[in-house]
Order: sequence, then C-alpha cells, then structure tokens
Amino acid sequence: MNYAAILAGGVGSRSGLDYPKQFYKIEGKPIIIYTIEKIVSSNLMDQVYVAVVADYFDYTKQLLEEYQLQDQVVLLTGGNTRMETIDRVIEAITNNNEITDHDIILIHDAVRPFITNQIMKDSIEGAMKYGATVATIPVVDTIVASNNQEKVDSIPNRNELFSGQAPDTFRLKEFIQMEQNLTPEQKLLATGTSQVCTFNHKDIYMVKGDPINFKITTATDLLLAEKIIEGGFYEKNRNYTKSI
Ligand code: CTP
Repeated sequence: MNYAAILAGGVGSRSGLDYPKQFYKIEGKPIIIYTIEKIVSSNLMDQVYVAVVADYFDYTKQLLEEYQLQDQVVLLTGGNTRMETIDRVIEAITNNNEITDHDIILIHDAVRPFITNQIMKDSIEGAMKYGATVATIPVVDTIVASNNQEKVDSIPNRNELFSGQAPDTFRLKEFIQMEQNLTPEQKLLATGTSQVCTFNHKDIYMVKGDPINFKITTATDLLLAEKIIEGGFYEKNRNYTKSI
C-alpha cells in the first residue's frame, strides 16, 4: 500500500495572513485543495491522510465535501509540531490497517501544491529501493555560513549543497521502527524526519525535486502561486519540468 500524509497542521506565521496559508484561496479554491487534488488524481496512492489545524477541522471537512474528495481522504487534526502531525497520521494509518514490509508513506506539505507526478513516482520507487528518500534541488544561490549572523565564516562548495523539499518518503514499517528506537532525548531533538533517520544511522537518498515544488511560506510565495495558477500553468496532471 502507498499512503500519503498531507500535512496541514501549521499556522503559517511567516505568511502575513491572519489565518493558515493552506486555506488561502486562488481562483476561489484553497491551496490545500489544489494539493489534495494533485495527489489524489495521480492515482499513485492507495490511501490519502490529511492532518489539519484543529480549529479548521470542520471547515476542511466542508471543503472536502464541496470538492467531492470526502470519500478519498481521511481527515485528522494535526499536532503542535510537523513531527507530531506526522505521528498522528502514522497512528491513524496503523489503527486502520495491517502494515506490511512493502508499505510506503509519502509525506508532503499541504503548502506545496505544485508537486509533480514524476516526483511522487520517483519518491515511491526510491523509498522501495532505499527505504528513505527526500526530494531535493541543487541550490542556485551561493550559500554563506555565519555563526554570529553578521560575519561570513565560510562559503561551502555549492556543488555539494541541495535544498530539501518534500515529499519525504519511507518504507513505513522501517520508519515506525526507527521512531521507536529513538531515546527520549533524541525524540525531543528530532525536528524532522531526516533526523529520525540520521539518529538511526539510516541513509537517506535524494530524488530529483523541482523548483516549482516550492513551499508557500511568505507573502511573496503566495503571490507567485497566484501567478502560476492564474497564468494557467496549474493542471492536476501536469509535469512542469517538461511543460515549461
Ligand atoms: N505543519 C504541520 N503541523 C505543524 C506544523 C507544520 O502539519 N504543527 C505543516 C504545515 O501546515 C505545512 C508544512 O508542515 O504544510 C511545512 O511547514 P511550514 O511551511 O513551516 O508551515 P507553518 O508551520 O504553517 O508555517 P510557519 O513556520 O511560517 O508558521
């Protein structure tokens, strides 16, 4: 089974909006719906779980009905951190299903509506092969490191630097086992799925992301997403890399 976890438990404090950015409407449709539709319509997933901020649970339920997605999605409330939200989804999956060695979980951000089918396919295949993958793109800017946030300490070699996007994709059974292996201290320190792997000395492999799969974080990102959709570049099954 391929499970998708769509994370929408964040409040979007950097977006400049006074409500969570995943509910920002573009051409009348909330961003979260674009993301859900994209993942559902890929037909790559057997079950899709969506975890939202508790205050928006009822509203999201209404939206799922409005867009006729209610039968294709299991709706949950998220946790206080991204990691907690992931754990809630995993708990729901394990409560509803018998987990086998072949099951995959693809964890995606609700605020990355432009994920491509190619990224999903590569992530699933990569996770089947290696157990753990993350979608990445090479960094385009020169990255400078600064400990005191004033003076440049070093300029790492750009050829070795990548931006981690989402999805993070895993063999579910192994991921659950890795989480169980964490000490209480490690559990507190693990801010993301990557650390769950690194604390377990588990290698993570990169799959090719896409600049269009950017995370809507700031007001500028909202504007960009708006232009992409209004410009007609959003289609449920579009593979941007080939089309633009
Ligand atoms: N997320 C989540 N549960 C949380 C925090 C974040 O499911 N407790 C989700 C967000 O909804 C988003 C994704 O993780 O889809 C990426 O997080 P980010 O962009 O940091 O979202 P926010 O936490 O909402 O934004 P901010 O950091 O600006 O507050």
